[in-house]
Amino acid sequence: MDSRVDALLEKMTLAEKIGQMTMLSATSERHESLTRTGQAGAFLNITDAHDIARYQKLAREESRLGIPLLFAHDVIHGLHTIFPIPLAEAASWDLALIENAARVAAREAAATGLHCTFAPMVDIARDARWGRIAEGAGEDVVLGSAIARARVRGFQGRDPADPDSVAACVKHYAAYGAAEGGRDYHTVDISERTLREVYLPPFKAAIDEGCLIVMSSFNELSGVPGSASEFTLRQILREEWGFEGFVVSDWDSVGEIVYHGYARDRAEAALRAVRAGVDMDMTGFSFSHLARLVEEKKVPLELIDDAVRRIIGVKVRLGLFERPLRKPERVKAVQLSSDHREMALAMARRCMVLLKNDGATLPLSKGIRSVAVVGPLADNREDPLGTWSALGRADDVVSVLMGIRAIVSPDTIVRHARGCDFEGDLRTGFDEAIAMARESDVVVAVLGERSDMSGEAHSRVDIGLPGPQLQFLQTLQATGRPVVLVVMNGRPMSLAWEAENVPAILVAWHLGIAAGTAVAEALFGDVNPSGKLPASFPRTVGQCPIYYNVKASGRPRGSTANLKVGYVDSPMTPLYPFGHGLSYTRFEYSDLVISPESVALDGALTVSATVTNTGERDGDEVVQLYIRDPIANTTRPIKELKAFQRMTVAKGQSRKVVFELPAADLSFYDTEMKLVVEPGTIQVWVGPSSAEGIEESFELVAAEPAR
Ligand code: NOJ
Repeated sequence: MDSRVDALLEKMTLAEKIGQMTMLSATSERHESLTRTGQAGAFLNITDAHDIARYQKLAREESRLGIPLLFAHDVIHGLHTIFPIPLAEAASWDLALIENAARVAAREAAATGLHCTFAPMVDIARDARWGRIAEGAGEDVVLGSAIARARVRGFQGRDPADPDSVAACVKHYAAYGAAEGGRDYHTVDISERTLREVYLPPFKAAIDEGCLIVMSSFNELSGVPGSASEFTLRQILREEWGFEGFVVSDWDSVGEIVYHGYARDRAEAALRAVRAGVDMDMTGFSFSHLARLVEEKKVPLELIDDAVRRIIGVKVRLGLFERPLRKPERVKAVQLSSDHREMALAMARRCMVLLKNDGATLPLSKGIRSVAVVGPLADNREDPLGTWSALGRADDVVSVLMGIRAIVSPDTIVRHARGCDFEGDLRTGFDEAIAMARESDVVVAVLGERSDMSGEAHSRVDIGLPGPQLQFLQTLQATGRPVVLVVMNGRPMSLAWEAENVPAILVAWHLGIAAGTAVAEALFGDVNPSGKLPASFPRTVGQCPIYYNVKASGRPRGSTANLKVGYVDSPMTPLYPFGHGLSYTRFEYSDLVISPESVALDGALTVSATVTNTGERDGDEVVQLYIRDPIANTTRPIKELKAFQRMTVAKGQSRKVVFELPAADLSFYDTEMKLVVEPGTIQVWVGPSSAEGIEESFELVAAEPAR
């Protein structure tokens, strides 16, 4: 491969090299001519198979060297067959299904002619105000890293050159999710320890899995913009991790270096970005200055050559020289195929989280006399698509109302009213819905967020039910009819009144095209909910950022001499913790065994426990293993997830769960920023959430000195 790339490089003019480093957006006459003259290396936002074919033909047949273009797009949770949003998929903790969902997205994208998806987004998010929490796997590093790997495997398949594969582009490097106050695009200022322990591991995991492309982020990180950071892009990504693919900037994030106040103009921004290790400029607005910078000897030609080598290297790995178009003739056969729809439903079934279910309100009986299905999301086919829904169409979505109508007995009366909107405070729709509620045996209120209330540039300071929805719910509740709340959301929400007053709450997220079928199946018991929260649900937005693996503080026991730890007007704990999720059955945990009791620092341990289904029906449980290192060279979180397993346990049955854990998984950065495993006691919990579990401990011991 190297010789092939070098041979091409030798023939290229400086303009053609910079062309390879340029990603343009969408079709235009100007872009056609830039393609003909070899001044474009890649495109985003072209999703029509014919346009892709036409542009590829221009590049192959009319440009001097015939280097194929790379076509990329945001295929975040499906192209046509829209799956649950990534945060929802994370709630399944089901790595096989998540990989499969990415595979389906890759297949549809590849059939269209795309070569790359701008995914997975692996930004750890601890602040529900941040709109982009919807696009990632939530707050935890171990869950996030496992999902990052699963998604890369799904997108790239066994071989990224496979006709059903696309290159993954992991984003947003680095620490984009740590924006102060959840303000999108804003300042990130975290310690190197937090960066390395919390924010970087999912990126490392994606790269270890073979991810070919990295996107550099918009945010500044401790004083340096992500797209100008020699520390993250050159030192960590390339030198420490040995990344061989290429780095593409986020949309004009090179130009934004100027607005961060880190460069005088676009030319200087391009200089900083290319020095740091950005290989491709998404939009091309800034790298157009590179030719002059090279001529003025401000940018060494070697840097340009290295970038071009990486970009063409990825094109070779993707097989673009042999097969510049995937298989456009397959678009029709592949998109929204019955298999793909079935898989989107299978995924949706596993993502829903049952937050509470007092008095076994759920499941409802299919023979129920009447049900009122109300709320602005009840008969809504647009919003379940969620943020970044690519070419997804509302017409392909099953609404909750449609799902319920399809599942209940023919004699059940299903009434529907919208009741209220997402914004404003109009109560005009209340009366109609309340009248229906009064006449019905049960009320299903489908409330929450519109799809554009989370995602990029959609952070919020109020993360309760938007607009008049809470008032609407309170009015429904006041009728005295049993109310079931289905929440559709792109983020953790603060649902304190709801949790206090409504007997049953099902978090459905934005579940994609199969939303209504999956929700109806859960409400009426065909599906036993098994999702677990991938991010904490706060009591109030004032608790944000909130996450389970916090540090202890010097006053862990609550109040001392009237000085309250945390807040005076709220507990420290969330409303629903990370890992929480109920089932229609019950699971009990017993027999926690750790062996050996003393583990060498370079050794491994086995943790086992018994999970018994003591309820009345079969169910799936996500068994979670947490540890705490109570005394260490640097302070450690009060709990850290280290492993998890999803398993089916039949009613009345017990199953043994076994975790193998290398001691290396207990490493952390010491005061010298060296990764260490220290001798000492480690506490272990195995249980159903970050707040519950049975506990044991073991000793980590230095190896015996050789005799
Ligand atoms: C900006 C977003 O931050 C990024 O996630 C996305 O991939 C690009 N735009 C391209 O659409």
